[in-house]
Amino acid sequence: MSSWIFGYGSLIWRPDFPFERSRPARIRGWQRRFWQGSHDHRGIPEAPGRVVTLVPQDNAYCDGMAYQVAAEVIAEVFETLDYREKNGYERFEVDLHFAPADRQAGLVYIAPQDNHAYLGDAPTVEIAEQILSSEGPSGHNVDYLLALADALRELNADDPHVFELEEHVRNHQSRRST
Ligand code: SIN
Repeated sequence: MSSWIFGYGSLIWRPDFPFERSRPARIRGWQRRFWQGSHDHRGIPEAPGRVVTLVPQDNAYCDGMAYQVAAEVIAEVFETLDYREKNGYERFEVDLHFAPADRQAGLVYIAPQDNHAYLGDAPTVEIAEQILSSEGPSGHNVDYLLALADALRELNADDPHVFELEEHVRNHQSRRST
């Protein structure tokens, strides 16, 4: 039997694993936040960047992309993703909502509050400044934020937390170029 994997961060724009099809989906009871430290992708151990995780929140929802992965390759895909998401993320079971009365069980990588790399909340301007100053083996932290904001616009997904951070970063960039 195939499995569904839900992406809400870099897995939206860079899934990087074989899948049979993808569908925009929503999960309920979770909100996307730049509260996870990145020591291995968008920062380094001495200066971690910030990437998204999901935080439980009643009445909240998170839009992203769901991928259907064939049974024959799922073990290999989990091996790849477990490595990619190794800095504090664990697999959680969730309900994926595609449309009213159209849902599937799926798996999502979430970095819970008790993981070693968790940074938690901070004022928006501080999160934006950390993103602006961080870079790691996968590239600049700003590129992660801007790629996520673009991917969410393509999905017609609203996410004030992400778009507010994007605005801070773009304002900073335009101040520097004038
Ligand atoms: C995800 O995209 O679903 C997990 C977080 C990330 O890798 O950015």
